[in-house]
Amino acid sequence: MFVNAKEMLQKAAKEHYAVAQININNLEWTKAALTTAQEQKSPIILGVTGGAAKYMGGFATVVAMAKTMDKCLGITVPVAIHLDHGSYDECIACVEAGFTSIMFDGSHFPFEENVAKTKEMIALAHKNGLTLEAEVGAIGGEEDGVVGNGDVADPAECKAIADLGVDFLAAGIGNIHGVYPDNWTGLNFDVLTKVAEVTGGLPLVLHGGTGIPAEMIQKAISLGVAKINVNTECQLAFAAATRKYIEDGGDKKGKGFDPRKLLAPGAEAIKKVVKEKFELFGSVGKA
Ligand code: 13P
Repeated sequence: MFVNAKEMLQKAAKEHYAVAQININNLEWTKAALTTAQEQKSPIILGVTGGAAKYMGGFATVVAMAKTMDKCLGITVPVAIHLDHGSYDECIACVEAGFTSIMFDGSHFPFEENVAKTKEMIALAHKNGLTLEAEVGAIGGEEDGVVGNGDVADPAECKAIADLGVDFLAAGIGNIHGVYPDNWTGLNFDVLTKVAEVTGGLPLVLHGGTGIPAEMIQKAISLGVAKINVNTECQLAFAAATRKYIEDGGDKKGKGFDPRKLLAPGAEAIKKVVKEKFELFGSVGKA
């Protein structure tokens, strides 16, 4: 059931669990995410970057695939389809394409410009029934060509952006996209505590969910994080399972070269990661 992310995240913030944003890359990813959500009775957010949408044939293609699949598979749990790290133009394109939620990432602009553009995007999103995520303090690491410096957000700036009327807010707290380096110092819980205080119950978003230790995830949720984004971990699991299938000679046995067989272990591996995330984030049975 396609919805925007407002109700699911308000409920998560109130009941102290987090909804997983699972980024999708193709049909197998989408199906793995949707069926696991249904099996675990968990709400889910399908994350789509501009780069992933381009790969899949455009924003409208992704919406048509995901919404039609949701219907054909009889998915009844709440599902949001959300633009991840959107530019100004991508946000407009996603509203037109039928997304139910968008992230406008103005964190790399001077703060005043982030405020002005976020304000404009909130109006556009809300006029069309979508939810809007904004970002303060760039998330480090590299994602689809977007490179941040791993900033730690200024709580006063978070409050200013939150007061514009965003539905949920991503604040940099030392998290980065991709695999964490060995010398990573962990999440900055002092800043998260301050951000949560000044934004008064607004659902907070933790990007870079791959590889954050379970206790840090749980502490972040207890402090107000209600949405956690996961991308790289599914990609690594998919790649490892596909590699194993081929190295074991799976594609050379009978009709093992059939893509429905070749991609099956990877899809199962994604399902396993998604299920583990639902369990860790506490969203099982919440739909
Ligand atoms: P990871 O790739 O580190 O899991 O981060 C995903 C993310 O934050 C998407 O916005």
